Amino acid sequence: MTSKLRSSIPLLTLALVASVALLHCSDDTPAGRASASERGGVSCDVDGSARAETSTAADAAAPVADPIAQYATQLIDEGRKTFRHDTFGDEAFWGDTLKLHRAINGTAKGGVGAGVSPKTALGVGLKVDSDALPASVIDLLKQGKVDLDSVETTLTLLQANAVVGLTGVFDAKKTLVSMGIQCSLCHSTVDDSLAPGIGRRLDGWANRDLDIGKIIELSPDLSAVTSLLGVADATVRTVLKGWGPGHFNAQLFLDGKALGPDGGAAEAAALIPPAFGLAGVNLATYTGFGSTTYWNAFVANLEMHGKGTFVDARLADASQFPVAAAAGFANVRSVPDLITSKLPALQVYQLAIPAPAPPMGSFDVTAAARGKTAFEGPARCASCHVAPLFTEPGWNMHSGMEIGIDTFQSDRSPEKRYRTAPLRGLWTHQKGGFYHDGRFATLADVLNHYDRTLSLGLTDAQKKDVVEYLKSL
Ligand code: HEC
Ligand code: HEC
Repeated sequence: MTSKLRSSIPLLTLALVASVALLHCSDDTPAGRASASERGGVSCDVDGSARAETSTAADAAAPVADPIAQYATQLIDEGRKTFRHDTFGDEAFWGDTLKLHRAINGTAKGGVGAGVSPKTALGVGLKVDSDALPASVIDLLKQGKVDLDSVETTLTLLQANAVVGLTGVFDAKKTLVSMGIQCSLCHSTVDDSLAPGIGRRLDGWANRDLDIGKIIELSPDLSAVTSLLGVADATVRTVLKGWGPGHFNAQLFLDGKALGPDGGAAEAAALIPPAFGLAGVNLATYTGFGSTTYWNAFVANLEMHGKGTFVDARLADASQFPVAAAAGFANVRSVPDLITSKLPALQVYQLAIPAPAPPMGSFDVTAAARGKTAFEGPARCASCHVAPLFTEPGWNMHSGMEIGIDTFQSDRSPEKRYRTAPLRGLWTHQKGGFYHDGRFATLADVLNHYDRTLSLGLTDAQKKDVVEYLKSL
């Protein structure tokens, strides 16, 4: 009796704190976000909705057994591990086939080329997880005593499992013999708390520094890619080097389209999107290939080359997807299947990652409040970007014409449409530009585009206010 009573007190307190925070939230809307951290982790958006920031899986574990909460916690824990560390057996591709580990080793260690130093690795946007580093290495890093030009240091980092999204496979003699990649390679970054590129993981944040093309191009043997696409090695290398930081052409392996309408490789390669704030969002990807779990299965099987099962009859259409149809991507069955059993937890984890609130002082609170009014009124943004999802609840797809852009990328997807981008956490991916290919360098450019295309007749002041509002989401 007594223990039951005692255990219910913190819960009650929590509930009270939360409801006070919620009230607070709707009271002072625009100022809400900026002072969010002062209110016990419940943040407010300019639109008045609340978001829990600091609640962790542990907080959710209530003393009274709730099978649903327990299951959710278990899925989040498993999903996080999968997202951060699972290669799904893809080292058979990135190591054994592409032989990227040989490029990391360099000739000095029986591989090829100069080898990959930490400086080179950080230079192509790879990130180092400071939580995985031994205390001794952290001390040396702080004293500037770690040799960032030495391949040996890279190997030490890989052994500590500290390179975000990369797993090194070592033999008994501690020689790097293969390597694999994870979701976190592209969809996590770090907070730079120790040094640029070195810090604590930020899952779901798009790594817009990552030059995926340059990393793949380090491979001494691209024959798997050249034979899939039916083009010469030199051509593949030129295309890979043309993507640039933050870009990846996932559809290349379906339709073989390496170059965009203007002949550039970068514009055919989408920007890595954030993988947070997706709960409630119907279709995933810029062109709405399917749900989050659809795309998780797609990527793990077809892009990462993990070993699993993937079925999508739409990819058997040789007129739209010649490469996928020829390669049999419409029906992939690997034995053993290292992916399917991980999809439930991966999906729950993905959907559980909140869009992070913008830091205090990163936007003008008063202008953002005016911007909200314009966003919902004369700028007509809310007709598609519906708060608090900032995409349509329901069918969230539009033709290129509706948003005033070409159909090159939408034509590469089964729906032949663009998905209304959920705008939460926009402040985390200001690098690389906006829209699927980064065609608009700044948010001001996005506003000018809509103003022209939709003949909105916005004043410069209104456009500026909407930009501040976008930065507050
Ligand atoms: C090589 C980099 C890379 C890796 C690895 C990667 N992704 Fe992605 N991801 C992308 C890119 C690029 C897109 C955008 C694709 C598009 O829309 O055409 C994307 C899109 C997504 C989306 C859609 C986001 C939205 O806004 O709808 C989700 C969800 C996602 N990825 C999850 C994952 C998961 C889970 C994994 C691991 C199984 C993974 N990704 C591995 C680069 C990557
Ligand atoms: C007809 C529906 C529609 C309307 C109206 C609309 N948008 Fe969009 N918005 C979209 C779609 C679809 C995309 C995705 C485009 C792409 O990925 O290429 C998008 C993308 C964006 C992006 C880029 C997000 C990113 O991650 O790069 C921003 C910012 C944006 N919209 C802001 C606005 C603002 C501000 C308005 C009002 C002036 C507005 N939108 C009006 C449908 C719409």
